[in-house]
Amino acid sequence: MSSMFRDGLLKGKRILVTGGGTGLGKEMAEDYLRLGAEVYICGRRKNVLDETAKELMGRHGGSVKTHAIDIRVAGAVDEMIGEIWADGGPLTGLVNNAAGNFISPTKDLTPKGFDAIAGIVFHGSFYVTHACGKRWIEGGNKGSVISILTTWVWNGSPFTVPSAMSKAGLNIMTKSLAAEWGPYGIRLNAIAPGPFPTKGAWERLSPGQSTDGDGSRDGIPMGRVGEMDELKNLASFLMADGCDYLTGQCIAIDGAGYLASGGNFARLSKLSEADWDKMRDMIRTANEKDKAQRSV
Ligand code: HXC
Repeated sequence: MSSMFRDGLLKGKRILVTGGGTGLGKEMAEDYLRLGAEVYICGRRKNVLDETAKELMGRHGGSVKTHAIDIRVAGAVDEMIGEIWADGGPLTGLVNNAAGNFISPTKDLTPKGFDAIAGIVFHGSFYVTHACGKRWIEGGNKGSVISILTTWVWNGSPFTVPSAMSKAGLNIMTKSLAAEWGPYGIRLNAIAPGPFPTKGAWERLSPGQSTDGDGSRDGIPMGRVGEMDELKNLASFLMADGCDYLTGQCIAIDGAGYLASGGNFARLSKLSEADWDKMRDMIRTANEKDKAQRSV
């Protein structure tokens, strides 16, 4: 499979992808760059961001700039968006991709665990959207926002409750601001991917399982996990000119998994306390490894 789009489709676009150093964010950032956009990526690990920027520019040329930032810090977000505006003018697009998540029985969560996820997904995505939106309105610029959600925004997901709650909130932000900011030419849409295996997500959602898609196909009528090109095509379509009337929507791309079998973690109710102890250890090990690389 490959791109559906002509070269240069996104020429003149300036797009920020939060959490763009790894995973789905890196994939979308690459497609925007390949299609001619100037790209900005942010995340908490400067070395990871810089390596990604180098890799993507090496492959496609163009410009990928990096900002090491924790989007939970509203002041730092506003400063970064100010710097991006000063660097080359207004952004034309924002992808709220940065997220935090791990599977856990909700009874075992601490307030700090809840806050870690809600801080990144719910608060952080709002801060970035707000920092861009107010500048777009003030400058009379159009903008397109895509938030990466999940199908749990419609039916919830046991064992990932802070993420489900936070992403459901962003779904309503998408709809609310599509109406409020429509008069300014600002569009907000969302994508609800089914399983598109990546290292960061799988270490925290399916610890011990490989990212080749085995073990993630059950209950998906298409019989497979998603392919990155499919996600990238949708993300680029939503950023391109020509669908200006499309706003306020959350589009599932999940092979009908959600419709057929809920697409969530209800199956984990079979795990024992001992299984959960093992999972928790594996997730914490992954968290610690990532944390050791952080620069903010
Ligand atoms: C219970 C846990 C835990 C676990 C962490 N915590 N892991 N609690 N079970 N397995 C608790 C900690 O004990 C601590 O609370 C609290 O969470 C905060 O942990 P920190 O490590 O201090 O926080 P922080 O460093 O900010 O890390 C945030 C994080 C981490 C969310 C916990 O996983 C992270 O940075 N993730 C970013 C990448 C990521 O998650 N990618 C996957 C996204 S997938 P106490 O009280 O104990 O100190 C996604 C949806 C995909 O979003 C959908 C697919 C279909």
